[in-house]
Amino acid sequence: MKLTLRVWRQRNADTEGAMSTYEVDGISADMSFLEMLDTLNEELILKGDDPVAFDHDCREGICGACSLVINGDAHGPERTTTCQLHMRSFADGDTIDVEPWRAAAFPVVKDLVVDRSAFDRIIQAGGYVTAPTGAAPEAHATPVPKPDADFAFEHAECIGCGACVAACPNGAAMLFTSAKVNHLNVLPQGAPERETRVLDMVAQMDEEGFGGCTLAGECATACPKGIPLVSITGMNKEWLRAARGVAKR
Ligand code: SF4
Ligand code: FES
Repeated sequence: MKLTLRVWRQRNADTEGAMSTYEVDGISADMSFLEMLDTLNEELILKGDDPVAFDHDCREGICGACSLVINGDAHGPERTTTCQLHMRSFADGDTIDVEPWRAAAFPVVKDLVVDRSAFDRIIQAGGYVTAPTGAAPEAHATPVPKPDADFAFEHAECIGCGACVAACPNGAAMLFTSAKVNHLNVLPQGAPERETRVLDMVAQMDEEGFGGCTLAGECATACPKGIPLVSITGMNKEWLRAARGVAKR
């Protein structure tokens, strides 16, 4: 396949960026999108040009590092991570726009790399899970109802990629934060910090400059792990329950 790439290039956070156009040839339909970018970078390096900076790590859809807006869609045309997107989703001769996540809370570091440490600070604000020290407890010592275990597992699938923020017209982080809150708040092991967790994580989310949720639903559409929109409702219920409880004390 021969492709025209229009790639966002930005030297650092303090300089303005712009789209640069590159031609790549010999791209196999079986390559991943990142392997296609590797091919471009090999050519740039051989020419003595600066390679395109982009985030990646596992390349297996589990770490959440790969973060590209492809033709205007977070992670591109398939509902998957950029590393799991293959070039068979494009046609020979296509022109493809490649941009970083666009959100005020995710400043561009270089080219296609953005700083997502705001997510780390939201998780950090959730604090620790109280757990007795010592030997590992017997697996069935704390019974967890099957629906609760399934609910927690569904939310634990969030890989922190940030596609939900990039897709949201408000740059909101509600889907990510709700996944983290709901994962632990439904489990008995997460019960001791249930109130402080949701109040502190939501407060940190607001402090980081993410936008507010207007139920556009783009986040859930873009999420490669299928975190549902109703998770946000669940987090809002948790927040109201906690805020009322704190107000009564
Ligand atoms: S909720 Fe989905 S889109 Fe958002 S960070 Fe988690 S996995 Fe990524
Ligand atoms: S590189 Fe890890 S999810 Fe894509």
